[in-house]
Amino acid sequence: MLQVQDIHASYGAGEVLFGVSMEVKDDEVVCLLGRNGVGKSTTLKAIMGLVPTSTGTITFKGEDITRKRTDRIAKRGIGYVPEDREIFSFLTVRENLRMAEIAPKKTYRDKALEYFPKLTELLDQEGGSLSGGEQQMLAIARAVTGGADLMLLDEPSEGLAPVIRGELVRVIHELKKEVAILLVEQNLHLTLELADRIYIMVSGAIAFMGTPQEVQEGKAVEKYLML
Ligand SMILES: Nc1ncnc2c1ncn2[C@@H]1O[C@H](COP(=O)(O)OP(=O)(O)OP(=O)(O)O)[C@@H](O)[C@H]1O
Ligand SMILES: [Mg+2]
Repeated sequence: MLQVQDIHASYGAGEVLFGVSMEVKDDEVVCLLGRNGVGKSTTLKAIMGLVPTSTGTITFKGEDITRKRTDRIAKRGIGYVPEDREIFSFLTVRENLRMAEIAPKKTYRDKALEYFPKLTELLDQEGGSLSGGEQQMLAIARAVTGGADLMLLDEPSEGLAPVIRGELVRVIHELKKEVAILLVEQNLHLTLELADRIYIMVSGAIAFMGTPQEVQEGKAVEKYLML
């Protein structure tokens, strides 16, 4: 579904990604792990065209999307939920979902509400009045509403209470039946539970790739995450 090949990216003069290569296959949940500041969020932004890449290629559903416009990339079917969620605080839940409809396709909105029945009760509330967990649900629901085949989720569990985190795990298991997911996570337990495959990033490049079992057996956590 998604192939990232040897991408380099920088913010101004400071290079952040030094040849990142990774792949997400159909129906796969792939987790990207790494310590603070190694370039996980930048990798997702580069895929979305929000950070310019200097070299390398990004292919989605067989099509080259390298250096394409972000809205075009989204339209091809990649839903992006950034670290800070970026929901519209002064719009209601219903309006937030409507904004995400690329072409009004009610089926996707219904689908989003099926994943998150709680949002049905909150449709008329403003985004800014929701709890952190509800905002995260809304952010993911918007990606579903956009009809994404691949979702990029940047640390969705961050700052959530354990109960809400459990709810998030349930939803990701549900989503996995229909979409591919690239998940950036700091929470190792969640990663080991959800991922089909795990990439570990160190200093702007992929240092390790393997199944959750291989991560545990190969002492990858000790090697790459506890420096
Ligand atoms: N807008 C920006 N301008 C300049 N430098 C940036 C910008 N955003 C990130 N960086 C730098 O790029 C590097 C990678 O950042 P990135 O946000 O991709 O890391 P991350 O792995 O997502 O970290 P975290 O776990 O803290 O979210 C860091 O050194 C960071 O300081
Ligand atoms: Mg980040």
